[in-house]
Order: sequence, then structure tokens, then C-alpha cells
Amino acid sequence: MADRSFSDMSLATLYDTLNPWGPGDDFYLDLVLSARSVLDVGCGTGRLLGRAREAGHEGRLCGLDPAAAMLVQARGRTSAEWVLGDLSATHWEREFDLVVMTGHAFQVLLGDEQVRDSLAAIRRALTDDGRFVFETRNPAARAWEHWTPGHVREVTDAQGAAVRVWHEVETPVAPERVTFTETFDHPGWEQHRVSRSTLRFLDRAALDGFLTEAGFIVTERFGDWGRGPLTPTAPEIITIARPDGRF
Ligand SMILES: C[S@@+](CC[C@H](N)C(=O)[O-])C[C@H]1O[C@@H](n2cnc3c(N)ncnc32)[C@H](O)[C@@H]1O
Repeated sequence: MADRSFSDMSLATLYDTLNPWGPGDDFYLDLVLSARSVLDVGCGTGRLLGRAREAGHEGRLCGLDPAAAMLVQARGRTSAEWVLGDLSATHWEREFDLVVMTGHAFQVLLGDEQVRDSLAAIRRALTDDGRFVFETRNPAARAWEHWTPGHVREVTDAQGAAVRVWHEVETPVAPERVTFTETFDHPGWEQHRVSRSTLRFLDRAALDGFLTEAGFIVTERFGDWGRGPLTPTAPEIITIARPDGRF
């Protein structure tokens, strides 16, 4: 099941509060600022492209996301192209010199065919010398073991209300996929809101298999946002890939 939380308007307005700007965003912002035309797949509330525009990016900035509530946030933020949908409905050809998937958006691609079709669409959308940059959580680091009701986060929303959020892994971990709930407790709501999601955790070898099949070469690989190496227990698998020239 895809992530549903972002189709709920009140949860979409909380997204940036719950996910404050961090080192990963700085990593991507540098790349965006040095590219002429950028496609952000799963752009969410649009804050990466918004920051790039504020920082003076004058080229093409395009955000794609299937969650209308997230794009409402993005459209209120800055001037860029905001496209509702996913890669299956797009027909860009050699239009972007950078495609990014940030905030672990790649992990919402659950089936092999969805991964293959998405990578093929990204390959088509890229110029021949373009780059595709994305990150996934390293399955060996087993991040989901910390997604327990005991780890409650409390944040203050834009109106000053204290919102409590916790996760719970719902099923035993199936091969590569983790299903979990995220529960939101807001003093202004009569009931908790619960969103249920599944994320796929592909390891390095599986990722490389899909990328090679789709016509990409991995040119750089990091295990954290400080550009450290991908060690067995590094938290992230951060990938910079280029078209291999076959297509
Ligand atoms: C965790 S959020 C990341 C948002 C943003 N990239 C960020 O870093 O803040 C994942 C985003 O992926 C979007 N999404 C879900 N399914 C998708 C799909 N099939 N293709 C592209 N984006 C998708 C969700 O709507 C959501 O906005």
C-alpha cells in the first residue's frame, strides 16, 4: 500500500513541521542550484524547489507528486511547475539535467514493475548528460526497529498546538517491505489520525540491478549526508547515477 498520509490536508500542513530542513536537504539544494532544469519526483510540499527559487535559481523547476494536499502546500510557496500525478502519467523526453527523489520518496515504489517503469520514465526525462540522484534507507541499518510507540515525537504546529506523533510497525517485516502506522494526536482533534504506509527497503545490489537494467551507471555512492562511504551499517544508500548512453 502506498503512503496515504499525504492525501490528508491537515497532515500535509504538518509535514514540514514534522520533517524540518536537514543535511539531506542541503545536499540536494547544492545539486539543484548547479543544474539548469530540475524534476523533483515526489516533491511533497515543494520546499526543495522553493528554496532553490528563493536562492536565485532562474531555470526550470518542476515538482511531481500524486498527493493533491501536498501540492496545495507547494503551489502556495513559490513559482515552479507543480504537476499532480506520478511517473506513469508523464511523457518528458530529455528535458531535465537533474532528476531527484528526496525524503526517501523512492521507497514508496513497491513492486518490481513500478520500480522499472519509474526508472525508465526518469531515464527518458533526463538529458544524455543528466543525473538522477536519490536516497533509500539502508536495509542493513534496520531503521524500522526504532519505529515503536515508545518513541513519541512532540512538535508545535503553526497555531502553537502540541502535536504528538508515533510509529508502529504493523506486520512482521516481509522481505524488503515494512508496513507501519503513524499516529497523530492533536489537542484540537476529537480522535487520533492514523496513516498506514508500506516502504520498500532495497539493498545496494538490488538497486544496482534495477539501475543497470534501466540504462544507468552509478557514478557516486554515499552512506550518509556528510558524503561518508556506504558501509554495511550506514543509514542511507545515496546514489548519483548517469545515463549509460545505451538508449
Ligand atoms: C516522504 S514524502 C517526501 C516529500 C519530499 N520529497 C521531501 O523530501 O520532503 C514522499 C512523497 O512521495 C509521494 N509519492 C507517493 N507515491 C508516489 C509515486 N508513486 N510517485 C511519486 N511520488 C509519490 C508522496 O505523496 C509524498 O509527497
